[in-house]
Amino acid sequence: MHRVAALLLFSSLVPAQTIQYSEARKVWLINSAHSAYAMGIDAQGQLQHLYWGGPLWSIDDVPAAAERPEISSFDPHQMYENEEFPGWGGPRFYEPALKITRADGDRDLVLHYVSHEIHGDTLDITLNDIRDDIEAVLHYRSDAQTGILARSATIRNNTRQPITIESAQSATWYLPAGEGYRLSYLSGRWAAETQLNREPIQEGMKVLESRLGESGHNLNPWFSIDRDADEDHGAVWFGALAWSGNWRITVEQTPYRQVRLTGGFNTFDFAYVLKPGESLETPVFYGGFAQNGFGEASRLLASLERARIAPGGAAAPLRPVLYNSWEATEFNVSEEGQKELAAKAAKLGVELFVIDDGWFGKRNNDHAGLGDWTPNPQKFPHGLESLIDYVNSLGMDFGLWVEPEMVNPNSDLYRAHPDWVMNFPGRPRSELRNQLILNLARDDVRDHIFDVLDKLASAYKIKYFKWDMNRIFSEPGWPEAPVAEQKELWVKYVWNYYDILRRLREKHPGLSIESCSGGGGRVDLGVLRYVDEFWTSDNTEAFDRLRIQEGFSQAYAARFMSAWVTDVPNTNHRSTPLEYRFLVAMQGALGIGANLNKWTPEDVNLATKMIALYKQIRGAVQNGNLYRLLSPREHDVTANEYVSEHGDTAVLFAFRHSQQYSTPAPSIRLRGLEPHTLYRLESTDGKLLPNQTGLSGAYLMQNGVNLNLTDDYDSTLVVLHRQQ
Ligand code: GLA
Repeated sequence: MHRVAALLLFSSLVPAQTIQYSEARKVWLINSAHSAYAMGIDAQGQLQHLYWGGPLWSIDDVPAAAERPEISSFDPHQMYENEEFPGWGGPRFYEPALKITRADGDRDLVLHYVSHEIHGDTLDITLNDIRDDIEAVLHYRSDAQTGILARSATIRNNTRQPITIESAQSATWYLPAGEGYRLSYLSGRWAAETQLNREPIQEGMKVLESRLGESGHNLNPWFSIDRDADEDHGAVWFGALAWSGNWRITVEQTPYRQVRLTGGFNTFDFAYVLKPGESLETPVFYGGFAQNGFGEASRLLASLERARIAPGGAAAPLRPVLYNSWEATEFNVSEEGQKELAAKAAKLGVELFVIDDGWFGKRNNDHAGLGDWTPNPQKFPHGLESLIDYVNSLGMDFGLWVEPEMVNPNSDLYRAHPDWVMNFPGRPRSELRNQLILNLARDDVRDHIFDVLDKLASAYKIKYFKWDMNRIFSEPGWPEAPVAEQKELWVKYVWNYYDILRRLREKHPGLSIESCSGGGGRVDLGVLRYVDEFWTSDNTEAFDRLRIQEGFSQAYAARFMSAWVTDVPNTNHRSTPLEYRFLVAMQGALGIGANLNKWTPEDVNLATKMIALYKQIRGAVQNGNLYRLLSPREHDVTANEYVSEHGDTAVLFAFRHSQQYSTPAPSIRLRGLEPHTLYRLESTDGKLLPNQTGLSGAYLMQNGVNLNLTDDYDSTLVVLHRQQ
């Protein structure tokens, strides 16, 4: 073989080194097939950011970190250098990554490079204050598949006096110097979560955050930034913070054309004391880069979540079809009533039967019972066993709703432990939905909650918990802790929440868990390490859902998106056909939340057919690649396509909202197919217009398919099978 050819063959077999370091120029380059990231040490010893964008092949391209001159006494060089992890000290007044106060009142912190270690796909860089032994170890883990970097920091106090941390951020990110950037983020409220916003980044600071104790309905800890991208084209920088408590991401454009993002623990009401020898670990802040638009950015993040973040990784089983009786019965649950619903659900093809709120304590409404996690003897005279056995005999698994962090003042638990609730002594305890929050930062409360859930999972054949949290924080007092440490509640609460989930999963490997907080109040990559799905929204109305789901899909994979079919008219008084409701919900992890006792034989027939169809396509939906073809924000047709992992199946969902003037639906151009391959198109409802049964990928992507969507809330699904 010719020598050059042999070398080329060899180099294509040897994976490129992910993390390189040039000793001569003091530059690191983290490279992957999708992105590259570089930083270096300047002559003063400061760690400077150097590059974030598409992949590079030569570390020599990356310029060494240079010192910059002072522009004026108002514009010192520290203000416009891209310091990778700036302490608050010297003349630095942009958002710092770390801010502290020493016991003697000294607040100056200037971080310089000390050492680094590279182990495979991880890089740790240690910085130290220029005078004191206060250390920040910056962690970088690169995912070879997606190029997404996981960044976090460990702050360590090696001095002899305590320090109080006032701001501990996970990472600061910089975009290439310039202007004209756009920020995308997700905002909303209860029953209207994950609405996508896009707006120009201008000078000043935009703050995305939660101060609510949980990641929150109002803003989700995710962002993306572009200049002129669309779904399929253009550079997109994106990221998500893995934290389920108070979080904050600031987006700054400085007068020096820097665009910088800083994210980590929210600085609001934050103080964390590090005694000598102690350390604090920040949450992980993921960041990635896509060359081909918002669609690719979402697919990269979704694939990281499935493979590297969620329990079970790529081998995790597909999500089952679930029935939840909440909207059918609310608090009015009984063994008999649940059995009746279970029998009906099983006939439809449901695989997991879940009882929601109302099964425990004196829980006949939302005024009592939270905290008392034993089956209500009037509702379940034979305990839960009889119902669970019955559900299992129908071939379904059994799941249970819990809200373990909460108490009603009218509960045995609160009467026994009023001090377990977060509170400021002598001041009112604000009730929301008639409930108070246990101070989960306390280890005795954490152990109690673990015991409650462990006992339930051990005593009964429970395969699934829906873990709910139905209010935001208030009066977050922790009177038993030393005054200087009381604000640590915000952080320790979340750590203990994670600890319970981790221990539960370890002890009960067959258990799956849904994170719910009155809908999507606790949807983030922090809790995703321990749960299998999220309850997307209490709003299950199908048309509203299209936008909620579009926003959700920017940041989270479809398999984590619980989506139910419920009855109409829904909470917003809208009625849509049952097929439409099914197709909307089939774009995630399908569940049924309707009152099956009210369904007609036609409803039952249609539902049985749709559930069977879902089981055929759910592999592509849950583990495939999503292409958002037409957005409900911009068109009278919404279309989404899911292409299976290996490309053998593609599923097109299309929804007509309100047609006007009898205008036909547009041709829908597909994505992600192989141009030279033939696809067989399968439609079960006749809405695929004729002569479109076998078409090439090239035609389908350039011309598209034509669908007969003529009515308001018309909908269809087309399955494409790759021909060999
Ligand atoms: C929250 C959940 C609902 C349901 C109720 C029960 O609102 O989001 O799905 O579980 O609580 O009280």
